[in-house]
Amino acid sequence: MTADAFTISQFITDLRQAIAEAPDEKTLLVTVRPMVKRIALAESWRHPRHYQADEEQGFGVHVLHDEPDHSLFIAAISWLPGRGAPAHDHGTWAVIAGVDGPEKNTFYERTDDRSRPGYAELRKTGEKVCGVGDVVALPAGAIHAVTNESGRVSLSFHVYGRHLNYADRSQYDPQNKTAKPFILKTQ
Ligand SMILES: [Fe+2]
Repeated sequence: MTADAFTISQFITDLRQAIAEAPDEKTLLVTVRPMVKRIALAESWRHPRHYQADEEQGFGVHVLHDEPDHSLFIAAISWLPGRGAPAHDHGTWAVIAGVDGPEKNTFYERTDDRSRPGYAELRKTGEKVCGVGDVVALPAGAIHAVTNESGRVSLSFHVYGRHLNYADRSQYDPQNKTAKPFILKTQ
């Protein structure tokens, strides 16, 4: 089988066109899902350095593209064994595809009235273990947590409608019912 030579540059061109043409976010996510799966499985962008992760953060964010106005953000994210990201939203849409290894997504919905700063009540709504080529598409406002329960570093391909450190978004502690900003360290 010949490797797919689809490149990040071609993907970005296609993505910009899809964003320009989509009448709404739901339509955009339907269009973008297979595109993200294709680029995630292509060999063109992959490099061993993408497996490096930040010990303190528990994962490594390898920026593959950041639009000049931060309106598009693409990253390869590696996850250390037994680590993950707490429940969080993105402040924009997200499409994520598995590249190497399983990652458990836990989905939540927010049940409080959002009237108290720093306070949030979450209810777990489901789980999905994302393996190689599996895609998770999240509309703006969706909340999930990610955990690598495997014994080795996993890797996934992430596309967001805005650079996450320029989006208004939060991380949550469902047990203590708190919300606070979620800033990524990138590498
Ligand atoms: Fe996320």
